[in-house]
Amino acid sequence: MITECLYGLLGENALLYVSATFVVLWIVGWLYRDSLVIENVTEKYVFVTGCDSGFGNLLCRKLDGKGFRVLAACLTEKGADDLKRVSGPHLKTVLLNVTCLDSIQKAMEWTKKEVGDKGLWGIVNNAGYSLPMGPTEWMKVEDFHKTLNVNLNGVIAMTVAFLPLVKLARGRVVNIASVLGRVAANGGGYCISKFAVEAFSDCLRRDIHYFGVNVCIIEPGFFKTAVTSLDPIEKELHRLWNQLSPEVQASYGDKYLDKYINIQRFIMNGICDKDLAKVTNCMEHSLTAAYPRTRYSAGWDAKLLWIPLSYMPACVVDIGLKLVMPRPSKSV
Ligand SMILES: *[C@@H]1O[C@H](CO)[C@@H](O)[C@H](O)[C@H]1NC(C)=O
Repeated sequence: MITECLYGLLGENALLYVSATFVVLWIVGWLYRDSLVIENVTEKYVFVTGCDSGFGNLLCRKLDGKGFRVLAACLTEKGADDLKRVSGPHLKTVLLNVTCLDSIQKAMEWTKKEVGDKGLWGIVNNAGYSLPMGPTEWMKVEDFHKTLNVNLNGVIAMTVAFLPLVKLARGRVVNIASVLGRVAANGGGYCISKFAVEAFSDCLRRDIHYFGVNVCIIEPGFFKTAVTSLDPIEKELHRLWNQLSPEVQASYGDKYLDKYINIQRFIMNGICDKDLAKVTNCMEHSLTAAYPRTRYSAGWDAKLLWIPLSYMPACVVDIGLKLVMPRPSKSV
């Protein structure tokens, strides 16, 4: 009966009109829900790791500007002093080395005193380390460990230590992964650590949502930060190369390292976005939205290249990388 009426009213395209209306309403509803924000941010405490530079530093300044009570953890005293100088009286800094359990425990005790019975609204696990990155065969096992210690063990240890404070506030855990946690594009500990952060965050979200705690994953594309800074990456590549045996070096050929570095420079200079706000806007949404998203991809390369690639068969990335990267001289 209803279908007949619709046909009478709209003709044979009825189904099309009805589905289009449904899709438009769904999108409008989603956008509306996504735009709702929380209240009373001036009473909310957010703890951010890795605030010496990059995303963490910018995020603290922005949250401070919005009136949040920012607890900014820096690795160095200089980082903490510099941040204090450019922020308001409410922002507090603390020294933190996320690879050291003692340091985490101290920072947690300090935070517990600061937040009192309000609890902690947000913990942003932003501190990251990327070196060395390069061909897997060039790495020794220790080369993986420093990156995994900061990016993975650090995130787990911080989350475990601070979760009771976040649970008290029914707050949010915001973990900074990467598009390299969706597509494994280079050797070393970085991609491994970011894939693991994705898995850790998914498990945590599924376990903790019963208590009103949200877990958000930020997946930045390539941005100009310490993590993508070419000088240290190239220095590490030279170090790895120099520790290879003559046989392994010969299998790559003596031009390989220079070619590798040149291609990497070309790609990084082309792809790295200077606008870190694209990432901190996602972080801010995860902390201020009434309904934060589970995943945020930040940057055009993330949205148009990496995330679509992550849904494709592995051979697409295999072939892409093979076309772009240099070939070892004794390849078969
Ligand atoms: C952080 O802690 C680790 C392990 O305790 C230590 O090896 C490293 O030197 C520390 N880093 C800084 C910058 O203090």
